[in-house]
Amino acid sequence: MWTGYRILIFSSLLTEIWMERQYVSQRQVDQEGAFTRNHTVLEGTRFKRAIFKGQYCRSFGCCEDRDDDCVTQFYEANALCYCDKFCERDIPDCCPDYKSFCHEEKEWPPHSEGCLRDGRHYEEGSAIKENCNSCTCSGQQWKCSQHVCLMQPELIEHVNNGDYGWTAQNYSQFWGMTLEEGFKYRLGTLPPSPKLLSMNEITAPLPAITDLPEFFVASYKWPGWTHGPLDQKNCAASWAFSTASVAADRIAIQSKGRYTANLSPQNLISCCPKNRHGCNSGSIDRAWWYLRKRGLVSHACYPLFKDQNATNNACAMASRSDGRGKRHATKPCPNNIEKSNRIYQCSPPYRVSSNETEIMKEIIHNGPVQAIMQVNEDFFHYKSGIYRHVKNEESEKYQKFRTHAVKLTGWGTLRGAQGRKEKFWIAANSWGKSWGENGYFRILRGVNESDIEKLIIAAWGQLTSSDEP
Ligand SMILES: *[C@@H]1O[C@H](CO)[C@@H](O)[C@H](O)[C@H]1NC(C)=O
Ligand SMILES: *[C@@H]1O[C@H](CO)[C@@H](O)[C@H](O)[C@H]1NC(C)=O
Ligand SMILES: *[C@@H]1O[C@H](CO)[C@@H](O)[C@H](O)[C@H]1NC(C)=O
Ligand SMILES: *[C@@H]1O[C@H](CO)[C@@H](O)[C@H](O)[C@H]1NC(C)=O
Ligand SMILES: *[C@@H]1O[C@H](CO)[C@@H](O)[C@H](O)[C@H]1NC(C)=O
Repeated sequence: MWTGYRILIFSSLLTEIWMERQYVSQRQVDQEGAFTRNHTVLEGTRFKRAIFKGQYCRSFGCCEDRDDDCVTQFYEANALCYCDKFCERDIPDCCPDYKSFCHEEKEWPPHSEGCLRDGRHYEEGSAIKENCNSCTCSGQQWKCSQHVCLMQPELIEHVNNGDYGWTAQNYSQFWGMTLEEGFKYRLGTLPPSPKLLSMNEITAPLPAITDLPEFFVASYKWPGWTHGPLDQKNCAASWAFSTASVAADRIAIQSKGRYTANLSPQNLISCCPKNRHGCNSGSIDRAWWYLRKRGLVSHACYPLFKDQNATNNACAMASRSDGRGKRHATKPCPNNIEKSNRIYQCSPPYRVSSNETEIMKEIIHNGPVQAIMQVNEDFFHYKSGIYRHVKNEESEKYQKFRTHAVKLTGWGTLRGAQGRKEKFWIAANSWGKSWGENGYFRILRGVNESDIEKLIIAAWGQLTSSDEP
């Protein structure tokens, strides 16, 4: 079935042009019926002509006599229509605006060489962008580069027509990017180091909850103390976004709401020494190291830069110990609004067991956790539902996935694909609120979907006794 879609839709642009050309040649074959066109394809247009007043000949141009190349796409009828003078004898396959436009036209501009696109005529040599590929009109055909695009209409259709438990969507912020660019700029967590992977899993001595609730969301238990998704844009720094967000939630929960500020990912991106210019990916070990040794100011104090990729994003402040176990920022906040440049620090991070029940216990007692996951191409299209990776032949070919870091904030159960009851995690991504379910996504729970349960990290806030409530 997938192959079918591929053949049908693959490189829709070229196919469309090809189909037009083939249709035209068919028309040429039909010469013996000299003045009778083959109407079968276009029958529907007769009835619709009156309704559609779009620009066809008006944007395409009018041609002299019978000119079989003088066609443009008539979208409403999913067919081609003609703009030549031949139309005067034989109306049904003419464009709806033929009469009104071409009749009044004094001059009949010759139909020059070139290519068609969306009913428009392009000169030979013109270039257009088709999603992530650029196309040039050459020899009356579009020649396009062959990148795999981040947004794939055929994949969206495949997911939405299948029963996979989630829906896919075209995102304008991803349209026009190649898949490689998506991987390069929208993720940004380095694969976990062997050191991180060999960390001992801590089975926290948490009270044995015999009945974990079927549904849990951290923001319901701790309203105002957990932090929603930010937008990393084209800054490959999920290493910083997920770490700052988990740390902020944990500090708020641990201080029982005394410190509820979100922490600054930009502080990490610009200042974390080994991850400098951290929009080119970074490691979460380094992020947690920085939170422990240096600390972060709030997101309000050190907000995201407009151009996160700018190389002049030098670190705007450092922190210094006061000798009594606390650190203080060396400079005021790099903005005029926020005055508090308080430094927040964390304990060394610890690894939570990959056991689903243990992760749930950790979240319900101590707050959200960080999860490292593998992102495949379909994930970028996620709109709603319970995500599971949907494989297709095309992606098998290039087998691409990259590491990403997100925040797990809860779980639930729902009737999902094929009407089965399915368990899911609720996770916060860092692609803004317009992505997914208000910036969050749900993903299958308990089956290590996309490695989501492989490496779960958390930490405590470093609160001194004077910080305790
Ligand atoms: C008209 O077009 C249809 C479809 O393209 C084709 O099957 C049919 O043979 C054509 N009829 C004539 C008379 O050429
Ligand atoms: C996807 O979104 C972009 C930007 O909004 C738009 O230009 C494009 O036509 C859309 N593609 C599809 C297949 O809907
Ligand atoms: C970010 O900067 C790097 C290095 O200067 C450059 O190669 C890359 O294209 C930039 N990315 C974006 C999305 O502008
Ligand atoms: C996960 O831990 C629970 C106890 O917390 C235990 O009952 C269960 O067997 C464990 N599952 C696996 C797959 O080890
Ligand atoms: C999750 O999957 C990855 C890769 O498939 C594997 O390396 C890892 O051990 C798995 N983790 C668990 C807890 O099953």
